[in-house]
Amino acid sequence: MLPTTITHDFVKGLPKAELHLHLEGTLEPELKLALAQRNRIDIGQGTIEEIKRSYRFDSLSSFLQVYYPAMNVLQQEEDFYQLAMAYLHKAREHNVRYVELFFDPQAHTSRGIAFATVIDGYHRAVRESPALGVESALVMCFLRDMSAQSAADTLEQALPYREQILGIGLDSDENGNPPGKFKEVFEKARQAGFHLTMHCDIDQHNSIGNIRQALLDIQVDRLDHGTNIVEDQELVAYVRDKGIGLTCCPVSNGFVGDMKGNEILQLLRAGVKVTVNSDDPAYFQSYVSDDMFALAQSYSMTPAEMVQLARNSFEVSWLPADRKAAYLRQITDYVDAW
Ligand code: ADE
Ligand code: ZN
Repeated sequence: MLPTTITHDFVKGLPKAELHLHLEGTLEPELKLALAQRNRIDIGQGTIEEIKRSYRFDSLSSFLQVYYPAMNVLQQEEDFYQLAMAYLHKAREHNVRYVELFFDPQAHTSRGIAFATVIDGYHRAVRESPALGVESALVMCFLRDMSAQSAADTLEQALPYREQILGIGLDSDENGNPPGKFKEVFEKARQAGFHLTMHCDIDQHNSIGNIRQALLDIQVDRLDHGTNIVEDQELVAYVRDKGIGLTCCPVSNGFVGDMKGNEILQLLRAGVKVTVNSDDPAYFQSYVSDDMFALAQSYSMTPAEMVQLARNSFEVSWLPADRKAAYLRQITDYVDAW
């Protein structure tokens, strides 16, 4: 039976998928310090408290200015593996049964780390994840503030690993870097058989224009964030009718202004397949159940709506139909047993 009110325990126990999770954003201060010591990297901070104090963001770009330099501590294949495994343990704790893991190869290759080092480490964790009770897959994101040529080169590097990468995404600073800049490389990725998604971050310059490009020109399968779509009801009807998912991240949104809870719930109630995710949980100190519970605490929503968010997360995942059905049954069983 559904509970009468939404508790953190209920949300944490709900079987769920996470579809908007940056592996590099799961680097907790403890692991950052340990890797800095192991690889003899000076990160300019010596204690957990100092690292945490540097996590003061009020915009996407101020977050990215802290985020990229920290990645220097990731040097060896083992480091990438350890990072991914640490997240997967967290995922299990939050009853994430399936996760599509974003990773940013250019943030590493641009500082001299081999593509193979990154993917070999991450994919070892993906292979081991079912033993933890969490299925996982990799989604390779291009950095949109780098050139379209760099994205094309990265796609070439990824092709020998085609079977290890499920989809392609686009992240980093949206300002001045609209989806259309990457039309050609996304077309190539589609032809190579990858699923496609893209960040359309909140309240960007020309957010709605970027959302239109991503949906209509690039024809992505999903949108990351994308809540500014409420500015155009025709586009809302488009994603609803096509079953295109939006992967929203209320806590990370809250850091740069507004959790966008009204928009998330408005879209949910309009029948759009919105999902709630953690984005960069180590930086925003919120794992996916915390994001879902934060939404319920800050906005008025029902337990049935919370369950619908969890159902959506499997429905708009890139799992095969039989796996989706199996996970959806797990949600039904969980609610029945409550
Ligand atoms: N990289 C990591 N998190 C991101 C976000 N929320 N937006 C854009 N790029 C990102
Ligand atoms: Zn993101």
